[in-house]
Amino acid sequence: MTTDELNWWETAVIYQIYPRSFQDSNDDGIGDLPGITTRLDYIANLGVDAIWISPFFKSPQKDFGYDVSDYCDVNPEYGTLADFDKLLAKAHDLNLKVMVDIVPAHCSDQHAWFIESRQSRDNEKADWFHWVEPMPDGTPPTNWLSFFGGPAWTWEPRRQQYYLHNFLTSQPNLNHANPAVREALMDVAHFWFDRGVDGFRLDAVHTINANSAPYENNLANPEFVPGDLPQQQQPFFRQLHDSAQLNQPVIQLFSESLREVSDHYGDRFLMGELHGDDPIKASQTFTAPGRLHATYNFNLLHWDGLNVDELKAAITQAIEAFNGTGRLSFAFSNHDVPRSATRQLARLGLRDDQQQALQLLLLKLETCLIGSSCIYQGEELALQDVQDIPVEQMQDPWGIEFAPVFLGRDTCRTPIVWKGDAPNGDFSRANSTWLPIDQRHLQRAALDEAARPASIYNQFSEFLQWRKDQPAIMQANTMSELTGEAKQIVFDRVSEQQRLRCLFDFETLTATFEEV
Ligand code: BGC
Repeated sequence: MTTDELNWWETAVIYQIYPRSFQDSNDDGIGDLPGITTRLDYIANLGVDAIWISPFFKSPQKDFGYDVSDYCDVNPEYGTLADFDKLLAKAHDLNLKVMVDIVPAHCSDQHAWFIESRQSRDNEKADWFHWVEPMPDGTPPTNWLSFFGGPAWTWEPRRQQYYLHNFLTSQPNLNHANPAVREALMDVAHFWFDRGVDGFRLDAVHTINANSAPYENNLANPEFVPGDLPQQQQPFFRQLHDSAQLNQPVIQLFSESLREVSDHYGDRFLMGELHGDDPIKASQTFTAPGRLHATYNFNLLHWDGLNVDELKAAITQAIEAFNGTGRLSFAFSNHDVPRSATRQLARLGLRDDQQQALQLLLLKLETCLIGSSCIYQGEELALQDVQDIPVEQMQDPWGIEFAPVFLGRDTCRTPIVWKGDAPNGDFSRANSTWLPIDQRHLQRAALDEAARPASIYNQFSEFLQWRKDQPAIMQANTMSELTGEAKQIVFDRVSEQQRLRCLFDFETLTATFEEV
């Protein structure tokens, strides 16, 4: 068995960049593509294999880029296509693969497709979205809820019909029953592959749906218990979804077409974000031969930081479903949930040094599992969320709707700071930034940490170097079941050349590795 037998993405450590908050280059207080380019050395020196950039496409930014109004252009505040090409070239020079974040399930209500579609029942794009008659009493066709709260249906007076949106009302769901929709999205894939990107993170693929009215109501979820994370307390989760609203068979038409396009370009990676009533089962369907390469796994993202047994169970569940395939991608943090450092701190009341040690332990654990792993910007600095953003400075529409009970996602999206002693931590020279800079983050500014030998950044970087030399991690997708005493997670990674025992101790907050 040689390294060549695995594709790069099967073992990749992927660094997620939230472009609005990474580096501003033109003093408008908003991060942008040229800014990212100037910071690529920092990412490459960490020793990761790839970057995933959250959406930077044209968009009215109602959901900060996840509401796309043109998939094949750059939103002016983030730069231009030429800036993207420069970013890509520099990343490739530094041996970093580049993944962009495509949103195939919905677009913005400002996209030309929807602007046309909503005008009448007989225009060229009339059938590109989910247009449905009201019930005889005028109410929406089903009881479906939007993930962000409220009904999933909004009334369009021009057509005298409802349209479907699983998120904001300004994010209409595309009708994937229409082959023209699929073709248009394949054109988007060609556009970015032709530019040289190495893969896509595919947003919310579980919400891709076909207009197949009459739709069925969702049933109540008999097992609903509000989770610890605010996201898990949404009324959305009081329903079961997989009978009609989510994870529908039409998704596979999309994933198969996209895989065909991707295979045409060679060693590219398709990683689909996926949720639903039974994500593991759905993941198996999504990654069957000829479909997506991997699904983005929520098991660790939802871990509340308290109970090691729960973490063990979450990993076991995921690994058992996939052992031997590598079709998984793990993450502890991203732009949608409280940072893992905050989840731990809030739950455990750790001292600062313990919290940093735990953060490093989790980074090592994640990158020793089979499959790829996604590190969210700032995790390598053990950054915590910013909990005290004044309501008038909040940006996330979800948080604005439900504050102060739920603060939304601004808390994990504040700008990265680079130098503790520079204005705005050297994120931007603007007078104010789109979200406030957290003063506590200045103590752990990225370049300062990169220059401090004992920092989490450097310890993780050394670990990633060591990891590249471990055949059991890099050359095979085999992993034993999880064992270990209470507060320990132990497993073996196994290749023909090596059996590597990996022990993560949550009492001493240390990881040890031993060839056995
Ligand atoms: C993205 C979110 C976004 C939503 C709607 C997600 O899962 O990660 O940031 O709001 O899809 O596009």
